[in-house]
Amino acid sequence: MRTQHSQEYFQQAEKVLVGGVNSPVRSFKGVGTQPIVMKYGRGAKLYDYDNNAYTDYCLSWGALILGHANHNAALAAKKTLEKGTSFGTTTREEIEIAKHIVAHVPSMDLVRFVNSGTEAAMSAIRLARGWTKREIVVKFDGCYHGHCDDLLTTAGSGVAQLQASSSLGIPPSHIQNTISLPYNDTETLEETLTKRKDNAACVIIEPVAGNMGVIPAKKEFLQALRRLTRQHGIVLIFDEIMTGFRTSQGCVQSDFGIIPDITCLGKIIGAGFPVGAYGGRKDIMRCLAPLGGVYQAGTFSGNPVVMRSGLAVLRLLTDNFYKKLNRKCEALAASINDYFRENNINAHIAHYNSMMSLRFRREPVENYEDARAAAGGDRYGKLFRHLLHAGIYFPPADLEAFFISGMHTKRDLDALSEALKNFWNPKRKDKTDA
Ligand SMILES: Cc1ncc(COP(=O)(O)O)c(C=O)c1O
Repeated sequence: MRTQHSQEYFQQAEKVLVGGVNSPVRSFKGVGTQPIVMKYGRGAKLYDYDNNAYTDYCLSWGALILGHANHNAALAAKKTLEKGTSFGTTTREEIEIAKHIVAHVPSMDLVRFVNSGTEAAMSAIRLARGWTKREIVVKFDGCYHGHCDDLLTTAGSGVAQLQASSSLGIPPSHIQNTISLPYNDTETLEETLTKRKDNAACVIIEPVAGNMGVIPAKKEFLQALRRLTRQHGIVLIFDEIMTGFRTSQGCVQSDFGIIPDITCLGKIIGAGFPVGAYGGRKDIMRCLAPLGGVYQAGTFSGNPVVMRSGLAVLRLLTDNFYKKLNRKCEALAASINDYFRENNINAHIAHYNSMMSLRFRREPVENYEDARAAAGGDRYGKLFRHLLHAGIYFPPADLEAFFISGMHTKRDLDALSEALKNFWNPKRKDKTDA
């Protein structure tokens, strides 16, 4: 496969962008090959500067549920930007998308738009601290909520141990009030929340984790979390930045029937533009400026171009759309898992509707410790290169979820299935992993 132009562009990028990228995972560090520089996308396909086509399963890290360059979203963006791009005032676009979100996501009575998922999670935590007048934030090992200082702790630190930061540049004071617990472990959760009930401001969780591969929380675990947080007056925040509008119109909270106090959204609601949102119970949201004393602001928040094209996408996401998409994903996962089982291959596809991940072991994965034990390491790099060679673009990092859009055809999914099966076939001719 020729990627000469990509390589030339990437060399230029390295001269002017840090590591040639604007987000570390784009550097292909863990997959042993040069990053591809993409030129354009259409539907389920991405095209690079050497005119190679790839079926895209990364989809801008889950943002593009309708694939690339969706006609309605593009048209909405064009029409809106012709009227001006930013006014620094309230606009109709914000009102309309907020109405749509409030109508569909059960926990969200009032919404505040921001410019990224990181900003949404960071602001939701400030709001929870302001509302409760408490300091401690409880999170779960392996969940990612963006790069806010308070949340970048190393995982697996347990209840009693001191937290360590997972990045340089974060003063210990920023994480001394953060506790990270094992995912899906009700006993540890109960013990911790009971012990910290007077100081815990909030618990933040991905109700279906997507940043340690895909791990749905057990329903009993989420029920216990809801019961305990309510009992102790702790704010429950669902980070649905990845799952929001990915799995259904009401998001994971309606799938499970468990309603948090605050929800964070991002990715899909912006149609591929920068976006984030948080919202929740009226009494809590009213603590936010200008109604209350918790400050949070943004020059570009609720940008009309983003809001209008985001709404154009949301309007296409009907129950029927999800039914069809989720059914396709079920069939794909079943076909690959059957093959693995019949051929005694030590791997499986874990999925929650159209969020999927490949595990390099047979046993189920329930938490971050399991996820690390089931990681592919170098074999993921080999798999990534094998797929790239077959014209398939997977997330360039182990433990990242991959996604299916409404634009992936049966043919695309059959090709993915074949390529994955072929990777484990000992008679495979393609030796890209050599
Ligand atoms: C669950 C979750 N929360 C928060 C974030 C951060 O969002 P952003 O990258 O838009 O800042 C991400 C990003 O992948 C995410 O998956």
